[in-house]
Amino acid sequence: MSKLILLEGNQRMIIETIDYRKGMVRIIDQTLLPGEEIFLNLCTLDEVAEAICSLRVRGAPAIGIAASYGMLLNLDKMLQAESAENPEYIFDREEGMNSFSFPGISIEKIRNCLLEAKKRLETTRPTAVNLFWALNRIFSVLDGEEKDPGRLCELIAREAFNIYTEEVETEIKIGKNGARYIKDGMNILTHCNAGGLATAGYGTALAVLYTAKKEGKEFSVYADETRPLLQGARLTSWELERSGIKVSVLCDNAAASLFAAGKIDIVIAGADRIAANGDVANKIGTLGLAILCKAYRKPLYIAAPLSTFDMNIESGDDIHVEQRSGDEIAYLGGRRVVPENVNIYNPAFDITPAEHISSIITERGVIENPRREQIASFIRR
Ligand code: MRU
Repeated sequence: MSKLILLEGNQRMIIETIDYRKGMVRIIDQTLLPGEEIFLNLCTLDEVAEAICSLRVRGAPAIGIAASYGMLLNLDKMLQAESAENPEYIFDREEGMNSFSFPGISIEKIRNCLLEAKKRLETTRPTAVNLFWALNRIFSVLDGEEKDPGRLCELIAREAFNIYTEEVETEIKIGKNGARYIKDGMNILTHCNAGGLATAGYGTALAVLYTAKKEGKEFSVYADETRPLLQGARLTSWELERSGIKVSVLCDNAAASLFAAGKIDIVIAGADRIAANGDVANKIGTLGLAILCKAYRKPLYIAAPLSTFDMNIESGDDIHVEQRSGDEIAYLGGRRVVPENVNIYNPAFDITPAEHISSIITERGVIENPRREQIASFIRR
């Protein structure tokens, strides 16, 4: 069964990457794609944390949504335990908050419950700032005027659901703002997966391609396989193929030969964190493509929501790059391919200096030649 559903009279595609239904966080398990389309109902904070760590749910915006839903889930469980009515769930994205009585609930209990979830989720993945941005957004609801515990819980739920719905709108705007860079007949290279699976369902880099396709443009996409976890081979090609966009998958180390053969017109990718000076953390291998773009005089576009900017980080040097288990490289298809006792280098991301980036496409517009001053004034707008 296809997981693409259509919005606005067949105009827009959205993938059911993540949702909050009846006291559970529902995700499509991305580790099983494309072979199996399995949806998981995550019922505890630990299950959400595990899903983020293991990349069952992944991609900066989707991680942010998962984190906010993880906090809500912890609150849901606590309120269930506090209610004499034994409810099966308290929150649902469509129904909102169900009205049960919670006689023993206090602001202090709510704060402790959210703090527990925040601390747990902060340890899952360090690089995508969207995770921390979403956790802080939920937690800061506690700093508002509301002093009634029941109404405060309702506001927390509303904030979590807003993070999700705002993200969908953001992605549609990113698509519209970036589509002008896509011309008929172009060959476009993308890396990792910055599509619907990495977001609330529409994508950042791939939203640009979906919008261009909707505008009637014809183009071809090359998707790097993206070792070691193959987000390009497994996920990007899965999405693009379903949306009728021509896609070819290549080994990461074939990219240079494509540039040399004159077969790449532009590169477009997403981001996990953008420093105040415009340096971009994205999936390992993005820096190599940036250097190829420079060598072959091709533009590199980064598509990302404003929530991916971290104005507290001066430059890419200060971005914490996640190092992942060597087993991701040591094993291929369940078989060991690296001898025992050999060291393995497995950073999940690299940093592309701002000088290599032609433009950053956001929901608010495009930052051409991103540098510290342009970014600061753009963010202030
Ligand atoms: O390790 P992942 O799969 O979470 O890495 C994802 C990426 O690097 C994406 O390019 C990035 O998060 C942007 S997603 C819109």
